[in-house]
Amino acid sequence: MGEIWLNKNNWNDKDEYYTPSILVEPILKYLKPNSTIWCPFDTKESEFVILFKEAGHKVIYSHIWLGQDFFEYEPDEHYDYIISNPPFTKKYEILDRLYELDKPFAMILGIPVLNYQVVGEYFFNKQREGIDLQLLIVDKKISFDGNTASFNNSFFCYNVLPKQIIFEHLAHNNSRTHFIPSRMMDSQRLYRYPQTGY
Ligand SMILES: C[S@@+](CC[C@H](N)C(=O)[O-])C[C@H]1O[C@@H](n2cnc3c(N)ncnc32)[C@H](O)[C@@H]1O
Repeated sequence: MGEIWLNKNNWNDKDEYYTPSILVEPILKYLKPNSTIWCPFDTKESEFVILFKEAGHKVIYSHIWLGQDFFEYEPDEHYDYIISNPPFTKKYEILDRLYELDKPFAMILGIPVLNYQVVGEYFFNKQREGIDLQLLIVDKKISFDGNTASFNNSFFCYNVLPKQIIFEHLAHNNSRTHFIPSRMMDSQRLYRYPQTGY
């Protein structure tokens, strides 16, 4: 592990959303058993890391707080998938790097990104290269903080799903009385402000 990443000027609070387990669950059944999964924006408390391990997969996690910048770091060992919820403010650069790495990936993005012309053009150009976008769309607007979510977050995938668009049913939207936060939400203060303690 690298040293803890402390430069507070580089924080972007828009990127600090931690995925609840109900939104990780729908991807599980599409993963080959006993896979190795790289979660590149995650600590050991991430619901991706916890649920993938519980499902019998091997997980490699990395995070900029641990000195592992996604744009520079790649695990040495073999891995089968790259799966996470990326920092939204860097979504284009992250998609570029993901396609460059050329491994099956599933990344959570807000469905409203499809409203941006630049995103439409991005995926149209990929399609022209023979690379189809796959979408795993959940039927609820999942809340990350207990309040009603204003848009749907779902999985944008490459070479993971058996077909291009799949809808998944979720029991509830994780808001109000249903709210169960990600365990990464609790632990993030320790990484972000280590000098203040937990
Ligand atoms: C939207 S959050 C999601 C966290 C976790 N994947 C989850 O879903 O619970 C994205 C995380 O990526 C981290 N991050 C931002 N830039 C990064 C980079 N270049 N490399 C690795 N992690 C980064 C942010 O600090 C943030 O914690």
